Amino acid sequence: MSDRPVFAAIRFVADPPTLELLDQRVLPGHVRHVTCVAAADTAAAIQQMVVRGAPAIGVAAAYGFYMAAVSASAAAGDRAAFDAALDAAYDVLSNSRPTAVNLRWALDRLRGVVSAARPGIALDAVCAAVLDDARAIAREDEAACRAMARHGLALLPAARADGTDGGVRILHHCNTGSLATSNYGTALGLIRAAHHADPRTFVYVDETRPRLQGARLTAFELVQENIDHLLIVDSAAAMLMSAKKVDLVTVGSDRIAASGHVANKIGTLSLAVNARHFGVPFVVVAPVSTIDLNALTGADIEIEEREDSEITHPCGLDCPAVAPAKTRTFNPAFDVTPPDLVTAIVTEYGIARPPYNESLAALCARAARDFI
Ligand code: MRU
Repeated sequence: MSDRPVFAAIRFVADPPTLELLDQRVLPGHVRHVTCVAAADTAAAIQQMVVRGAPAIGVAAAYGFYMAAVSASAAAGDRAAFDAALDAAYDVLSNSRPTAVNLRWALDRLRGVVSAARPGIALDAVCAAVLDDARAIAREDEAACRAMARHGLALLPAARADGTDGGVRILHHCNTGSLATSNYGTALGLIRAAHHADPRTFVYVDETRPRLQGARLTAFELVQENIDHLLIVDSAAAMLMSAKKVDLVTVGSDRIAASGHVANKIGTLSLAVNARHFGVPFVVVAPVSTIDLNALTGADIEIEEREDSEITHPCGLDCPAVAPAKTRTFNPAFDVTPPDLVTAIVTEYGIARPPYNESLAALCARAARDFI
């Protein structure tokens, strides 16, 4: 198994500041990049889903914020003007997508770096500190993914649900791999580690309607990693579980409330309900930057709704619609799974189990102590 992804989602060059994003909208058919040189075009790329997946969005936003700092330091006459320009960049970036909290988490962290810089310090030095921390966010994200994979191995079932011989069969929703993170992946990182431990590990990949992250991105990564898999339509999952062909369900998350409510790609809740019905463990893999203790329950998590055409034109606006022009749509990008359906939440600080209001708070407290 390779250690570096063949295609990195995010590359940043500091001089001149340039963010190269792998255009995930056209994978797997085309490999092309979108270049961002400012906060505004970075925010547009996030909004248009050139880059996607909660941790990757946070890293991209961090570099977008740095690029705003560089242009503000060149344009601003004083610290007050610099701070005002960065406030505007923060707003543009943080509003680009509402659900994945890693976006705001990364921006808050960098804003903290700016406000910790003494008045009077050269703006160049403030920019350098922001760049150092943006790079640290990217590095730490990869380290977190690797740590989550190590912890998560303990949750792999020892035997198959139907008693047959062979590797564990994991059902996975959306994309949580290298392309959704700095590298390695959250839930897909665990699958990589499981495959490393036992190459017979097998994956059922939900295609993940409507944007097909499973088909386009997860399958793309599994092919590169030589991990055995089958692509299924989302609605085949219950049938597979009922036949005892699924030993574990793994998903990532875009935001986890203090209560343990898990926001993730639409379709996750159906999987969790089915997994509970058929007695399959349902495991969430996400870094502590995805835990939002300010969201007390799922009701506090804003769910992004996206445009009709994602449903009516699955092959793009150049292809014929699959629904009558007068049909209206409801297209939430995420849903919220209640904590009682979640077997465990794997973080880089260890595994949280119910009651999540206690276990998640304890893991976040440990993370905060590390950060000081
Ligand atoms: O809308 P997207 O493509 O950004 O959604 C991605 C997901 O929901 C992922 O499963 C989630 O971010 C987990 S992150 C590794």
